[in-house]
Amino acid sequence: MITNTELEIKGNLFPGKIISFSQNVDKINFTTENGVILQVTILRGSVIRFRYATDNNFENDFSYAISETGVRGYSVLEVEDHNEEYVIITKKLKIHIAKANINVVIKDTADNVICKDDWGFHWEQSYEYGGNIVKMSKNAPQGECYYGLGDKPMHLNLKGKRIENWATDQYAFGKDQDPLYKSVPFYIGMHEERAYGIFFDNTFRTFFDFCHERRNVTSFWAQGGEMNYYFFYGPDMQGVVTRYTDLTGKPELPPLWALGYHQCKWSYYPESKVKEVANKFRELQIPCDAIYLDIDYMEGFRCFTWNKEYFPDPKRMVAELAEDGFKTIVIIDPGIKIDQEYGVFKEALDNDYFCKRADGPYMRGKVWPGECFFPDFTNPEVREWWAGLFKELIDEIGVKGVWNDMNEPAVMEVPGKTFPNDVRHDYDGNPCSHRKAHNIYGTQMARATYEGIKQFGYPKRPFVITRSAYSGAQRYTSSWTGDNIATWEHLWIANIQAQRMSMSGMSFTGSDIGGFAEQPTGELYARWIQLGVFHPFCRTHSSGDHGDQEPWTFGKEVIDVTRKFVELRYQLLPYLYTMFWDYVEQGIPMLKSLVLYDQEDIQTHYRTDEFIFGNQILVCPVQEPNSKGRRMYIPRGNWFNYWTREYVNGGGEQWVDADLDSIPMFIKEGAIIPKYPIQQYVGEKKIDQLTLEVYYKLGDKEVSKVYEDAEDGYDYSKGRYSLRTFTFTGKEQEIIIQQHKNGTFITDYETMEIELIGIPFVIKQIEIDNVTVVLKDVHFDPKKNTIVVPKGFTELHIEA
Ligand code: GLC
Repeated sequence: MITNTELEIKGNLFPGKIISFSQNVDKINFTTENGVILQVTILRGSVIRFRYATDNNFENDFSYAISETGVRGYSVLEVEDHNEEYVIITKKLKIHIAKANINVVIKDTADNVICKDDWGFHWEQSYEYGGNIVKMSKNAPQGECYYGLGDKPMHLNLKGKRIENWATDQYAFGKDQDPLYKSVPFYIGMHEERAYGIFFDNTFRTFFDFCHERRNVTSFWAQGGEMNYYFFYGPDMQGVVTRYTDLTGKPELPPLWALGYHQCKWSYYPESKVKEVANKFRELQIPCDAIYLDIDYMEGFRCFTWNKEYFPDPKRMVAELAEDGFKTIVIIDPGIKIDQEYGVFKEALDNDYFCKRADGPYMRGKVWPGECFFPDFTNPEVREWWAGLFKELIDEIGVKGVWNDMNEPAVMEVPGKTFPNDVRHDYDGNPCSHRKAHNIYGTQMARATYEGIKQFGYPKRPFVITRSAYSGAQRYTSSWTGDNIATWEHLWIANIQAQRMSMSGMSFTGSDIGGFAEQPTGELYARWIQLGVFHPFCRTHSSGDHGDQEPWTFGKEVIDVTRKFVELRYQLLPYLYTMFWDYVEQGIPMLKSLVLYDQEDIQTHYRTDEFIFGNQILVCPVQEPNSKGRRMYIPRGNWFNYWTREYVNGGGEQWVDADLDSIPMFIKEGAIIPKYPIQQYVGEKKIDQLTLEVYYKLGDKEVSKVYEDAEDGYDYSKGRYSLRTFTFTGKEQEIIIQQHKNGTFITDYETMEIELIGIPFVIKQIEIDNVTVVLKDVHFDPKKNTIVVPKGFTELHIEA
């Protein structure tokens, strides 16, 4: 028997020779002479789990990140026993495991190396805490690129960086600052246009090094827990992301109003101020669906209470706002004020729901209310209690959404800005210290909040927004990127963060538009709104200590720009909702960085600014003051400038005009973009007609979709939705649009207005379902090239 010390290099321990091998259906165990077990689980042909134990001993297998449905299924596999190695063969991969040291090489079926261990698994024993510091190192071939990892405010391509995951309250963070609020230990690697992903499901403080320490090595490690990672093969990046999202879970559809524009500030109070802001939106006709109450609505910052001086009758106020189309969203933080007179505190104390220090005292820390105790959201009983607390807010008062903040958890005026390591947590029956529970705390809070809103708001869909999150949080909540600053650099950061969150499985994210700290100029605010309306979550928020940040603060020009772009968002709601549905159904990222959109074009590998909104709209924010436009990369393929309708060929950089009232924006040729009429809030109007903007393309077919349903509630899950699939075929003298409809939902509108853009011929004849129609019967307008057709057509021919 070999002892560990014989396999030690500079304090690191390494696995020895494999001495036994066993297989149990989809799980294959390799045991080494020094008590390391590698367990390989084949979840899918291209999704493989690698889990390592030392001392022949695995921990209890428990994860908050993995969705219940994510691990279903079993794939065909075969194991070959060769002289020097074992080879596990799945439908998509060959996994080579060296008998000498359990080193792993993953190849595709054509024997291309996709991912190869360098040192592979190794570890250091931790005398101080017990257990191990677990480490993994992989070969980094020249030219490999790295993406993902949640909210990191740095270049999209992480090559050359070292990253840390430890949820942190980083007020006014800067470019490249790390760690931030979220911990998403998932990255995508790409080499020779083949992409794979690694999700290191470990909630301890984790680190990732992408060729920073050693030029040709990528590594990741954690301060405790197991080396436990999932490998996803693409080869397309989108496939990697959808597989990761499948494993860690997809959200439900949000209510459609949640995709409208939201207005927030720290803080709107008293009631008259809230009303004044709401009224101003309607007066200026800037669409808005939600208004937020930050911490000052509470009585001394006690969660689940109201300051009755500022808000004497919250139920009435919320109802009045609702009449005008505003949904009220309130903030709820985790810190519960220590106050024997305060019911929530008493209840938690009596039931032993607060986190405790190792030796027994409660975890005491200062947050907005002053000294607080904190519920242990990793305890299922606590989550259930917490969910129950929402009864009054949701069921009685009529609040429509909840904003969870400070849940890293943040503690003021202490080193590390959070709990000390020794704090104890239940971790759903796997008792542990804060070292292990820290990164998951915020997600468990958001989960409990989500359960509460769902329970009391049912059958309406819940809306939750969180600041801290770990992988899997997307099942319960949206998120924002925290306390940014009103600077041009932060506009760049917001763009990166939203894209990065999308490729990290958390599409429903946005930034504080205009910047949280400091005061934006009108120009910066306008440029930020132009970007913000293309983020899945769209909210203006500011710290309020520097002045106002409502769209009307900056004068007429900015009001007009804001209105124009918020209106555009509302027109594009059916397009945005369809993007969301794609995300919910298939885990498809709502924003696609250019590399994710076209990884075979190496020009995209280091691009940061341009992104695809959904599948067919290319957007690139203007990020500098005094700009009349900018240079940008147009991805391969052909596009129409949305504003000028000019046709452009992609695959190169171009100057694009964009004065303050414009943003570079292009539509993919062949796309059919659905639009609704402008509304001041979702549901203001009955949608009496769907507009389809059809962008001509010669040659290959292009498919576009429109998903619709009741815009709230769960009927859609019983088939009551409407999914229209349009196939566009363009010829020199003819256009064919085919429509296929799924689902039993019946939309209000009876007709569609079709606008034909870029067609190279003069329209002379139109056939609907094989019947030639009189042009004026379809309201043909030859100047605008529009026609109005019944919504139920299956095939439309438009000919010269
Ligand atoms: C934190 C949040 C911010 C909020 C403030 C007051 O700084 O990040 O959004 O407005 O607390 O609640």
